[in-house]
Amino acid sequence: MTDETNMDQIEFWNGDHGTSWARYADIVDIMFDEITQAVLDAAAISTGDRVLDLGCGSGGTTLAIADKVTPIGSVTAIDVSSPMLERAQHRADAAGIVNATFVLGDASVYPFAEHSFDAMVSRLGAMFFDDPEYTFRRMVPALDSGGRLALGVWRGPSENLWAMGPVAAAKEFLEMPPRPGPEEPGPFSFADPDRVRSILGAAGLTDIDLAPLDFQVPLGRTLEEALNFAMEMGPLSAPLSTVTGDNRQKAIAAITEVLKANQAEDGIVRLAGACWIITARAP
Ligand SMILES: C[S@@+](CC[C@H](N)C(=O)[O-])C[C@H]1O[C@@H](n2cnc3c(N)ncnc32)[C@H](O)[C@@H]1O
Repeated sequence: MTDETNMDQIEFWNGDHGTSWARYADIVDIMFDEITQAVLDAAAISTGDRVLDLGCGSGGTTLAIADKVTPIGSVTAIDVSSPMLERAQHRADAAGIVNATFVLGDASVYPFAEHSFDAMVSRLGAMFFDDPEYTFRRMVPALDSGGRLALGVWRGPSENLWAMGPVAAAKEFLEMPPRPGPEEPGPFSFADPDRVRSILGAAGLTDIDLAPLDFQVPLGRTLEEALNFAMEMGPLSAPLSTVTGDNRQKAIAAITEVLKANQAEDGIVRLAGACWIITARAP
């Protein structure tokens, strides 16, 4: 590890992208509710548990955990993103939640106390480390002996049309940045089961299992919400922020067409999402 480790991601999640995720926190929670439920079930979160929420973002999973572990359990939630953590704290305060603690920090280097958690969970927050093997090796001792790990992560891009459908339609009008390699930090870096087993196995975890979760991701309650999401938060947000004129109009029209084609009678736009729900145990 060097002083530069995770710096690109820290900058990214504290910039415009993190601000958008914070602003759309309620919609994000609707979109990824199935993952939340699957992760909490997989980790068997229940009353009294001490839980670490890794890469908690705007706190959607943290609040759900706080509710499940109350009255004597607690949840510690860590993230590098100031705007998202601010939103998380605000949401917890508004809900009167007192058993959630938010920590601004890099999970790869944060000094967690040994044996301080019964479970460690993450919804879509485990794929962004420069050196995931190092990170998990450092975090595992924070779990009590036999403690549970449950992570929701994306499978490959071709199975995740909620992200890649609009990209396929609009990319001819945009300058897309190069996609991260399969082992570089990014949403799809835990797609390969062999890689996941190798990372978690090297960290000393046992009983490693990957179960598929397939669902239709609601990209927003209306076409407008779905379009806002696609333009501000997904892989199109960066290229759309720089394109102007005719190409911008054409890109937006192409995205709108894909979203409309996937809008159901209830007005909700849904596209396929494909995850792994990863489980493991501390030795
Ligand atoms: C895709 S977002 C998911 C956020 C949240 N779990 C959710 O489902 O809404 C990924 C999160 O991982 C966080 N993250 C990335 N690298 C991190 C690190 N080294 N330590 C802690 N959090 C990190 C980001 O700031 C971001 O909030």
